[in-house]
Amino acid sequence: MTSHPFSMFGAALAVISLSACEPKPVDGGEVYQAECATCHGVDARGGGELAPLLPKAPPDLTTIAFRNGGVFDRDRVMSTIDGYHRPDSFAMDMPEFGAGDMGQIINVDGTPVPARLLAVTFYLESLQRAPE
Ligand code: HEC
Repeated sequence: MTSHPFSMFGAALAVISLSACEPKPVDGGEVYQAECATCHGVDARGGGELAPLLPKAPPDLTTIAFRNGGVFDRDRVMSTIDGYHRPDSFAMDMPEFGAGDMGQIINVDGTPVPARLLAVTFYLESLQRAPE
């Protein structure tokens, strides 16, 4: 199959389900700029203002799927962000956002997920590209 692997379908669904259960829809781009851009860059390509100060460079978040055989593994990305599941080698520099306020808990196919975590994950998914 050669169709575009990074479907926008999921993002559209998230907007619908967020607006159904959440009085204030969460803007994943805003969450990203507020919590992530200082390290991962305003364009999510890795060059945030704190990046030069970190022992391990914050990765380009627009190539997560590309580096994973074209698959954006939403669950893995979410558990990387919230800190519930990270590889042992993972740098300590990135905060575990699960410890902070990731917003109202909403129900996604029976799984409780904080709304801001979901929104920022869909935002990242929408940015996926094949690097030039
Ligand atoms: C203080 C700096 C910092 C902040 C803030 C930060 N990160 Fe990170 N992030 C890192 C570093 C450093 C790594 C690389 C860790 C490693 O691989 O050991 C990383 C890795 C990641 C990864 C794994 C990327 C991959 O290629 O597998 C994701 C996803 C991610 N960050 C998302 C986010 C999101 C979303 C936010 C905001 C909610 C955020 N980060 C905020 C520093 C940061």
